[in-house]
Amino acid sequence: MKFLGAFICGMLCVSAAVGDGLKCTLKPADIPTDWLDMVDPCIKIMEHQVQTEIQAAMTYLAMGAHFARDSINRPGFSKFFIEAASEEREHAMKIIEYLLMRGQLTTDVSKLLKFPLKPPREEWPNAVTALSDALNLEAKVTSSIREIIKTCETPKTSDFNDYHLVDYLTGDFLDEQYKGQRDLAGKISTLGKMMATHGPLGEFLYDKKMLKDEL
Ligand SMILES: [Fe+2]
Repeated sequence: MKFLGAFICGMLCVSAAVGDGLKCTLKPADIPTDWLDMVDPCIKIMEHQVQTEIQAAMTYLAMGAHFARDSINRPGFSKFFIEAASEEREHAMKIIEYLLMRGQLTTDVSKLLKFPLKPPREEWPNAVTALSDALNLEAKVTSSIREIIKTCETPKTSDFNDYHLVDYLTGDFLDEQYKGQRDLAGKISTLGKMMATHGPLGEFLYDKKMLKDEL
């Protein structure tokens, strides 16, 4: 149904555009704006979070690629980090979808990302170091989400407490952050012990378990 609506809109636009290049000449509908209640500092910090999530995705992508190299060959860790990269992209999309649901991002979304988007590093001496980097990264993301919550709960420019967004971020995003952080901390603990007793063999065995989702 959604696609049909978009298609009809597109066709109306194309038919109206004939004679004016590819520019749509249809007058935008007159939508009342009273329902748009998000305030500026909150919108801005939410928009910035898209960049933070995509940056995290790039970092996990670099980790996934590193452990997939023929010279490293740790498919379990590679799979784990590539999946983490997908989750970060999903977070970025969830934020974009939320902003659209609240009537934002109606013009240009290209401003959401600043390029170049480079991971801070592309090689790791071992998997414990990569997992520790991942945990530090998640701690930073958690603190940036807490910052959004603070900004949207008590924005400096108005007394509008954005209950819905604060609840969404607290229940959805923060919950996932804390669970993810605990998971990484546990992995660092177990892998660290295995490497302390078995050296690289410990990492090799742990990787096999990761590949089968047994950890
Ligand atoms: Fe995230």
